[in-house]
Amino acid sequence: MSQPNHESVNLSSPFMGTGGGICILAIESSCDETSAAICRDGKILSNIIAGQKVHEQYGGVVPELASRAHIQNIIPVVDQAIKLANENLKPDPDSYRDLDLKSIDAIAFTQSPGLIGSLLIGTQFAKSLALTLNKPLIAVHHMQAHVLANLINDSKPAFPFLCLTVSGGHTQIVLCESPTKMKVIGETIDDAAGEAFDKTAKLLGLPYPGGPLIDKFAKDGDANKFQFPEPQIPGLDFSFSGLKTSILYFLQNAGKSHVYKVEFLATEEEKENFIKKNLNDLCASVQQRIVSILLNKLKKASIETGIKDICIAGGVSANSGLRKAFIQMGEKYNWNTFIPDFQYCTDNAGMIAITGYYKFLEGQFSDLTVSASARAEW
Ligand code: KG4
Ligand code: ZN
Repeated sequence: MSQPNHESVNLSSPFMGTGGGICILAIESSCDETSAAICRDGKILSNIIAGQKVHEQYGGVVPELASRAHIQNIIPVVDQAIKLANENLKPDPDSYRDLDLKSIDAIAFTQSPGLIGSLLIGTQFAKSLALTLNKPLIAVHHMQAHVLANLINDSKPAFPFLCLTVSGGHTQIVLCESPTKMKVIGETIDDAAGEAFDKTAKLLGLPYPGGPLIDKFAKDGDANKFQFPEPQIPGLDFSFSGLKTSILYFLQNAGKSHVYKVEFLATEEEKENFIKKNLNDLCASVQQRIVSILLNKLKKASIETGIKDICIAGGVSANSGLRKAFIQMGEKYNWNTFIPDFQYCTDNAGMIAITGYYKFLEGQFSDLTVSASARAEW
């Protein structure tokens, strides 16, 4: 069977049914969300996300269960993405004709980083489609896609811009010179910001993923009630493991001390009562500290680079405390601030589609030998 001839990709798509634009089908399966999206000329027509509740009872993502759920979800999710894209095209009778797999110009997929079993499902699915339909393939780096989620809205940052990318596995400050040229100028040396949220939630007895729950309880809490330390890390790097340890000791001492004791100052029952009584204030105080660690480094990056077009991205950018404090900081320092819509903050194929679109414009295609990778350089 012949492989897609990437050299001869025609930028004026032969498909006229969607108005003659460049149409990308995108697949995301790097962790525990199976997602598919359709984008035409940089506009997202559909973004379908299937979550996986199965992990809740285990307190974290179980890789094997995630892979099996991706296998079950991937075809229905792609079907729905195509269906919804058609519905969104219908209001424009001039450009509407059925959009289907044959009318797609390229297939973009998350190649790395992520859980290898999960990535393999999306990668094999995308490669099989590309081979069967004779369409070009576009391999996308998940963290670059989080950054480019900021190019989905009509109001876009100007290049070069900075992006604080905060997810369950990464915390990075990215300098983005063009859609395909970015570099990481600061990153975590241990835990990611999302992990700091999720691990704190676990210590508080909340289910996985705890980030959204901390956000919810923090809304009714006093953020100045408890003080947690801000680490002194040189440059633009971050650290969250000290904060986690401090929270652990604080809870085990039922709020009487942050310091490790051979024997803690509270019994298990006293600890549980302390958490129950102070849950909202604990969530608000921890959230405020995580946000201040993130934004103080972002401010430093803006001063050092002189860049004032600044974005946030990734699952933690859905956090209401971070969004609010980021906008306030932007007003104070005259930044142009950008935040993706909620559906494009946590894992989604819309961000893979927009990245695929820009890679298509630059002719950055992969051949069928491309393989999934748990880790990858930028
Ligand atoms: O980007 P993402 O969906 O997946 C990764 O690429 O890791 O990020 C998931 C992370 C989880 O740690 C989750 O707890 C966190 O984003 N998260 C939040 C909120 N929504 C998701 N953390 C704090 N507040 C939220 N509202
Ligand atoms: Zn992600």
